[in-house]
Amino acid sequence: MDATILIVDDEKSTRDGLRMALEDSFDCYVASDIREAMNILTSEKVDLVLTDLRMGGDSGMDLLDEILKLKSPPIAIMMTAYGSVDTAVEAMRRGAWHFVTKPLNLDEVELLIKRALTSKSLELNNKKLESENQELRQKVGKQAHGLDRLIGQSSSMAQIHSMITQIAPTKATVLIEGESGTGKELVAEAIHNLSGRPKEKIITVNCAALSPQLLESELFGHEKGAFTGASQRRIGRFEQASGGTLFLDEIGEIDQATQVKLLRVLSEKTIERVGSNTPIKIDVRVITATNKNLAKMVAKGDFREDLFFRLNVVKVTLPPLRNRKEDIILLANAFLKEFSKENDKNITSFSDSALQHMQNYNWPGNVRELRTAIEHGVVMCNGSEIEANQLPLNVQSGASLLQLEGLSPELSEDEINTSRENTLAPPQEFNLHALESVTIRRALSHTKNNRTAAADILGISRRTLQRKLKDLSL
Ligand SMILES: Nc1ncnc2c1ncn2[C@@H]1O[C@H](COP(=O)(O)OP(=O)(O)OP(=O)(O)O)[C@@H](O)[C@H]1O
Ligand SMILES: [Mg+2]
Repeated sequence: MDATILIVDDEKSTRDGLRMALEDSFDCYVASDIREAMNILTSEKVDLVLTDLRMGGDSGMDLLDEILKLKSPPIAIMMTAYGSVDTAVEAMRRGAWHFVTKPLNLDEVELLIKRALTSKSLELNNKKLESENQELRQKVGKQAHGLDRLIGQSSSMAQIHSMITQIAPTKATVLIEGESGTGKELVAEAIHNLSGRPKEKIITVNCAALSPQLLESELFGHEKGAFTGASQRRIGRFEQASGGTLFLDEIGEIDQATQVKLLRVLSEKTIERVGSNTPIKIDVRVITATNKNLAKMVAKGDFREDLFFRLNVVKVTLPPLRNRKEDIILLANAFLKEFSKENDKNITSFSDSALQHMQNYNWPGNVRELRTAIEHGVVMCNGSEIEANQLPLNVQSGASLLQLEGLSPELSEDEINTSRENTLAPPQEFNLHALESVTIRRALSHTKNNRTAAADILGISRRTLQRKLKDLSL
């Protein structure tokens, strides 16, 4: 790798130690204070800065602020003394990528830097960041949670709660399926936290975020010299999770070769680091998650059947939010409390119309989308009650379209897909012509193309509908 990194620490021994450990893999600069660091940053192209948080008179936080002002800011990783994790969390909120605690584990530092660089080069989306943050929250340990964080009183959620309680203490491999944003990661954490071994770690690997080769060495580790760039032995995630849980997120994305290796690991309960033939015994509970339908992937030949059976010992299927509408208000109120506190506001409720819009909307992004919508509402709201017009536009317009059509909010899968395609961009949402076309198309899809029935729910004659279809060239 020809990435360039800058190490900033006021202690010479730390600077030198890090440089020695990292210079095989990266071009390294060192600086002992903010001024030196900024001199380098403004004259050289640096990909990543590894900085101490507390340096004599200087604060790593100030350096972070300076870094973030740069035109194309490098990635920032903070080093912090054990026990001052709060400051590190604050740094991440401001824009640092991650943090490491001192005393430093040099392997971990190197791994983290490589992951940071890879994820940047892959331009990972918010989702990845979210899961990084989740990982951080777990490390911080403030929010160790069981079922209490998994809000929901619908019968389907109650079933999921009792299933989690039942399977958590076992060592069964669990497959969690569900659309994006339905809470798969929360379920994985709950299973781990209720496993009776909550002091052990849960380690998360996002399988979609890494190239096949990186994924393999991430999971199984590698020996020094196993491939170009493997300048040191690395302990893989399976070994790190020993005694605890390994959560493989987006398992549907792993390549065929890694599928074979994973199958072997699961059946033999041993791993081999890349570049070594020595089997190492592992004792790890594996939980996987996917927003794909793995059984369908197996049928199409995209996922190994034998691996599928190994992973699918117990399956938890999270229903989309639109199929458990009775949870919406409960979730909305919980998020309202959370964001109201976070933003120092005193918002205590929703207007009736806001509640109605939320209830009628289909939430294609599920709980994650609801959470973001409430955050949006809280930010927009200056009073004590969130109004409908303070919710995101799509929540407002989605609901109004439904009401216009007089359709029941209980739509089938296909209708939802059509209606999603038919959602209007904001500038169009008040355009009558556009609304009419969308409404007609949705009425037709609702009646499975029965024009008489469609005309009926549209409140127009069949002949008028024919004419409109012709006019709109539908
Ligand atoms: N039942 C729930 N109660 C409270 N918060 C929830 C619930 N389900 C999901 N969330 C919140 O919604 C967001 C998305 O959840 P999570 O990351 O677990 O979804 P996911 O199914 O893993 O999504 P993806 O497939 O996109 O990774 C998180 O902020 C999570 O805390
Ligand atoms: Mg997830």
